[in-house]
Formats: sequence, structure tokens, C-alpha cells
Amino acid sequence: MATTLITGGTVISSTGRAQADVLIDGEQVAALLAPGTTAFGVDNLQAAVDKVIDATGKYVIPGGIDPHTHMQMPFGGTEACDTFETGTRAAAWGGTTTIIDFAIQRYGEKVMDGLAQWHEWADGNCAIDYGFHQIIGGIDDDSLAVMKELPDEGVTSFKLFMAYPGVFYSDDAQILKAMQVGAETGMMTMMHAENGPVIDVLAQQLADEGKLAPYYHGIARVWQMEEEATHRAIMLADVTKAPLYVVHVSAKQAVAQIAAARSRGQNVFGETCPQYLYLSLEEQLGAPGFEGAKWVCSTPLRARAEDHQNQLWRGLRTNELSLVSTDHCPFCFKGQKEMGKDDFRAIPNGIGSVEHRVDLLYQGVVEGRITLERWVELVSTTAARMFGLYGKKGVIAPGADADIVVYDPNGHTSIGLEKTHHMNMDHSAWEGFEIDGHVDTVLSRGAVLIENDQYVGAKGHGQFLKRGLSSYLM
Ligand code: URP
Ligand code: ZN
Ligand code: ZN
Repeated sequence: MATTLITGGTVISSTGRAQADVLIDGEQVAALLAPGTTAFGVDNLQAAVDKVIDATGKYVIPGGIDPHTHMQMPFGGTEACDTFETGTRAAAWGGTTTIIDFAIQRYGEKVMDGLAQWHEWADGNCAIDYGFHQIIGGIDDDSLAVMKELPDEGVTSFKLFMAYPGVFYSDDAQILKAMQVGAETGMMTMMHAENGPVIDVLAQQLADEGKLAPYYHGIARVWQMEEEATHRAIMLADVTKAPLYVVHVSAKQAVAQIAAARSRGQNVFGETCPQYLYLSLEEQLGAPGFEGAKWVCSTPLRARAEDHQNQLWRGLRTNELSLVSTDHCPFCFKGQKEMGKDDFRAIPNGIGSVEHRVDLLYQGVVEGRITLERWVELVSTTAARMFGLYGKKGVIAPGADADIVVYDPNGHTSIGLEKTHHMNMDHSAWEGFEIDGHVDTVLSRGAVLIENDQYVGAKGHGQFLKRGLSSYLM
């Protein structure tokens, strides 16, 4: 088994920072050592190991965990254009060493058939480790019964939709029943909280007035219907005593609902995504012509003038929001986003960011919005705890998987299609972003994936992760 020593760096965890060398034996972390310590009876550890990685002046952090991706997802009349192969490779480039993707069950389909399909797509194709949540898009007696078997499959969370009528939508009675299964089994209910039926009427009315540009996607999906659905989901979770995780929160009013529930003691958690922290209705969705289609996603980008972005950052700092995922759901501009060139309702919903989450969140450190420790918590540790991976993932400690990123705070990353774009898309939602910091070296279970700005990983290295229940539940 190969041994590796990462020397000279500052190891950052969710609770602190220390100068330490990290010794890796095979796929796991063997020890954290004070610099220069002799260990295991060996005087010169650097000479004894197979590989030395010099992290002098750099941060050594647990590999990123992105708990919300949609690789090759069939959606919006097409399918997300990153496969498990291309998407996980791009994730590795950006310092993410675990994703949790969503298997799908629709009306009339069997839950376990959906899960088997996603296994087939991912197995042998991933560069990094991966797990699955299960989308339940058709709640009936059969799916409610079979959901109880998901934890035995290592799938301990399911996503429901209050949006997308006719696609994945569930009504309140169905949600109540699914949440009762969540309460009984300890599985996390993940919720897309937007009032879909109301939004569809508003969208139809805009279309009737000839308002068909991408910008109107954001106008139809009003924040009131995100706040309302978030509140309704919280109330249903309270009635059923189910743990609730609200995905892709973009409205400050939804953050307030989550904060209120948390302060009442409810097991309610919220995630946001980089697009909601940085991008806006006015600047991106409102870009000239059809350009705004690149940023059509749901929940939508919100108005900068309404101050959602600052309030999301505040929520991340104060733990009203627990996590940052990407909701990576990429569609090419040509042929895919273009499907809606005459009507925003036909634009496939989704943005690709899996490559940039660690870098984009680091800007929060640079800008003084969050600490280094909170950065690590938001990009790695909390996701491990939230979704039953902690100990193996999310931490650099003896026995943990050696999923490690050496991050250079003095490096620089210019996001653009030329050099820093490995997602399988013909555009980047982040083109032109200048990042202070750079992903230097990436290891997954002890294997180097990124080194000297080269990808040296392998398709099929990534393994399926059977997850346990959330560490946050009593
Ligand atoms: O626009 C989005 N978010 N696309 C992916 C599907 C979802 O709702 O998460
Ligand atoms: Zn969603
Ligand atoms: Zn999603």
C-alpha cells in the first residue's frame, strides 16, 4: 500500500487550524503529525514514504462534498449534459471528492428501478466517490412502502417537489404521507419548496402578455411562493416530526422561515448554492436577448436590489443555512437552452457549477464573510454529517478516507472556457469570475487526481457510498 506525506501545510478543519503533516497509508489517513515529528520509529518520514506533497504556505482541507448534483438527469425534454464520467472529473478539478446525486422515480415507475438505473449510469464511470438521494416523483401506496427499504440500500434521504406540476410535483397530502415515512425511518426529507401550481399560472399570464424572454422565468417564480412553500413544508414536517432539508434556498424570506423553525427546535436545515450568492435577476437573467437562458434555474436568481444575496451570506455565517451545494444540472446553450428561445417556459432549468463551488465559497473568506473553518464546514464537513458520511468523509483524521485538497490561498483562478472549464458544457455560468485562490492538489482515497494543473485520476476510481442516517438527528 502506497504511503504519502503532505508536509508544511496548515490543516483546516471545521473547528480549528494547525500546522501539521498528514500521513496517508493506502486509502486512509494514518496520522496527523506536528511538523518534523518522528513517527512509527522512523527518523526521516519524508525519506521513508512513497510520495511527498509539499504544502508549504497552503491550506490542507478535507475534500469537498457536493450533496446536490444531477448528472445526466433526464429533465425539461432533454438531459443534463454532464455524464457521471465528465461531471465527476470536473468536480475533481475543483476540489470536490464526493457527490450525492439524485436517482429518480416518476409516476407509475418503481422506486428500486429508478435507483438501479442510476447505479448503472454511475458504476465504473466516476472519478470520485458518490452516493444517491432518491427523488420520489410519484407518491402512492407502492412507493411509500418501498421507500422504507432505501436505508438498507445506503440511500437515507429522499427529495419531494412542491414545484413542477405534471413532472415531479406532490400535493400536500402526498407530502404528509412521505414525511411520515421519513419520521418513521429517520430518512431526511429534502424539499424543493416553491408553490408550483401558482407559479405556473403566473407564467401562463406572462406568456399571454407576450413576456417570453428568460428574464420572466424569474418574474413568474416570485419569492412569496418560495416563502409560502418553505413555511408549508416546515409545518408539514412539524406535524409529522420528520427531519426536513430545504434545497436550493434563494429568497431571504425562506431563510427567515428556516431560521424561525430552527429556533423553535425543529430539525429543519437549509442549503443554498453559489448562483444565489453571486448572481442576480437583473444582471444575469436580465442579460440582453436570449443570453439570460444560461442562468435559468429553479428556484430562480433573485433581485440584487432586494438584498437576498447578503442575507444568504448572513444565514451561512450564523448557521441559519447549513450548507452550500451546486444543484449542478448543466445544459448546453446550443440545442438545449435554445429549446426555449421563443418561450422561457421551455428552457431546461439548471446551472452547472460542480467545478467551482470550493473556489466560489473561498471568496467568502477573502471578502471577510465567513472564516476558514466555516468554509471547510460549508464545503465538506456539514454535508458529511448531514447525509451520514461523517468519519469516513468530511474530516482529516486517522481512519478517515484520504480525500484531501491542498488549496493555495496565494494562487489565482480565472474562470473561462479556455483553461478552467472541464464540465461538458458549451458555456459557463461563471465565465469571467476572478478567483483569489487555487485548487493545487486533490486526493481521493489516497490516490492523486489533480496535480500540477493536470488530471491524473481515472474513470471508475469512484465508489458508491452506502450512507447512514444524518448525524444531526437525535
Ligand atoms: O433548476 C434546477 N434546480 N434544476 C434541477 C432540478 C431541481 O429542481 O433541483
Ligand atoms: Zn429542485
Ligand atoms: Zn436539484
